[in-house]
Amino acid sequence: MIKPVTKAVFPVAGLGTRFLPATKVLPKEMLPVVDKPLIQYAVEEAREAGIEDMIFVTAPGKSLLEDHFAPAPKLEAFLQARGKTTELKSIRDGFPATQRVKFARQEQPLGLGHAVWCAKDLIGGEAFAVLLADDLMMATPGALKQMMGAYKRTGGNLVAVEEVPQDRVSRYGILDVAEDDGKLARARALVEKPAPEKAPSRLAIIGRYILQPEVFDHLAKKQTGAGGEIQLTDALAATLAAVPFHGLRIDGRRFDCGNKLGFVEANVAFALKRGDLGGDVKKMLKSIQ
Ligand code: UTP
Repeated sequence: MIKPVTKAVFPVAGLGTRFLPATKVLPKEMLPVVDKPLIQYAVEEAREAGIEDMIFVTAPGKSLLEDHFAPAPKLEAFLQARGKTTELKSIRDGFPATQRVKFARQEQPLGLGHAVWCAKDLIGGEAFAVLLADDLMMATPGALKQMMGAYKRTGGNLVAVEEVPQDRVSRYGILDVAEDDGKLARARALVEKPAPEKAPSRLAIIGRYILQPEVFDHLAKKQTGAGGEIQLTDALAATLAAVPFHGLRIDGRRFDCGNKLGFVEANVAFALKRGDLGGDVKKMLKSIQ
């Protein structure tokens, strides 16, 4: 019997250099798509998937994110007094209970694998989810909820995957596929950021994971990989013999908000979907062409 996943880790300690100067003081995950920070979309996705315990791995000096998830009694009282119910709802709904929010520190940006390792003591010995908020998903049901459904069957390590063009494989962890039914693939090996001619497939890991605690055994060794960083993919590859590894294609769309074009695209796509904005945005887009 596979136990339900109850905790989610959000690594938010990267430098976000591709978004400087915006990210000089602002964590990349606090950038808003329309009017909501990327991190809040990810938290809402985790809650939709049944998770209430949220663990943020933050960088020193970037306390804005902690403030965002803290109660704001003065602002709430102000909105209440003015009868601004929609605005009040926007800072209440979708937020996890304060006592379920925890923070771990990553003192130096040594890589995604290291960021996840920093949350080890808050996770304990159970399976957990990892969400990279800069991969923004537009999916119904949400991407993590879709994964939870598949996880009931696969157990082990399960990640979200996407077919990427050959010339982009070197930006991702890539699956060496043993079996594939077109939706779910089982990997026999994983390669982080392969050169296009060396990639075993075009099936790339995107920013959603359900992981077994065995991954910490390898992360504890703090071995560096591609780019001199401690890579999560390398740790998952090291546990492949002991823990099965599957990739699920998500029914929906991913926006890579870690790069500028993906971020702009996400803003337009999410704005177009909004009842209060969609029509006007469509007109505006026509007028600026
Ligand atoms: P990225 O490599 O996309 O983020 O990491 P980055 O390094 O912040 O961005 P650029 O390339 O300099 O623009 C993917 C995710 O992992 C987190 C990031 O915050 C992001 O959510 N991360 C990465 C950490 O938390 N710690 C790290 O050491 C590295």
